[in-house]
Amino acid sequence: MSRSANTPGGQRDSATGPTGGARETEEPLLTLRGVRKSFPGRRGAERHVVLRSIDLDVHAGQCVVLIGGSGSGKSTLLRCVNLLEVVDDGVITLEGREITDPRVNADEIRSRIGIVFQGYNLFPHLSVLDNITLAPVRVHGRSKAEARETARDMLERVGLAEKADARPDDLSGGQQQRVAIARALVNHPRLLLLDEVTSALDPELVGEVLDLLRDLADQGMTMILNTHEMGFARQVADVVAHLSGGVIAEIGTRAQVIDAPQTEATRRFLSRLHA
Ligand SMILES: Nc1ncnc2c1ncn2[C@@H]1O[C@H](COP(=O)(O)OP(=O)(O)O)[C@@H](O)[C@H]1O
Ligand SMILES: [Mg+2]
Repeated sequence: MSRSANTPGGQRDSATGPTGGARETEEPLLTLRGVRKSFPGRRGAERHVVLRSIDLDVHAGQCVVLIGGSGSGKSTLLRCVNLLEVVDDGVITLEGREITDPRVNADEIRSRIGIVFQGYNLFPHLSVLDNITLAPVRVHGRSKAEARETARDMLERVGLAEKADARPDDLSGGQQQRVAIARALVNHPRLLLLDEVTSALDPELVGEVLDLLRDLADQGMTMILNTHEMGFARQVADVVAHLSGGVIAEIGTRAQVIDAPQTEATRRFLSRLHA
């Protein structure tokens, strides 16, 4: 299934408004309000505020592409959403429920939010299938048989059904990253977070991973992804958000933000990328 099959020019219909349009009347799947995150400064220096105040809505089915310079906090933002970092302040909700409430069960939330990192983090001593079933069985209490069945479905979905018994080292980097994506999909997450998932790949392997992400977007998966691949962002993003100075400096459709940026910060970022 390819995006170009249903929309002219291979691009999503952008007539749906700045943040995905028709869906905006519905309650967002994910909201961030005033999210702040700092880290301890080095040797008694003041805390380093990475996210000053982030406001963001993500609606079901949207693909949100986060752009921003190195160190602008893109990974930190995704890690806060997945509760891998504890926010200093602000509120994050998933399906209307506050997940930044310290009383929530983080494992349960993470079963509804898949995350994939730049490095695939697969266990080399486990088969592909066992890599995928590990968390569902150990953390989320699924039966082994059920987990294996779902894992096989997910391998099918990422085009690697025949690699179930292979070891990660026997796969190419692109295939390993597709396994990592299958692993993130295995709990049928409501939201998928993808942190520079093609940055560590040899250039010739980037395409197969981007194709998979495009398929997932076409299938209606809600995603937030960080990428420097502007060509890809231009094809899949319903919303482009530029993170700069600890805030979302600019947000809108890809046509607005990538092709006609309104803020000086975004213009500067994009011209540096093109240079
Ligand atoms: N665990 C941490 N401890 C201290 N500083 C961190 C930590 N994680 C990230 N940072 C700092 O936060 C800033 C933003 O990092 P990051 O979110 O990785 O940016 P990006 O993904 O946009 O490149 C950087 O200055 C980084 O050094
Ligand atoms: Mg990063």
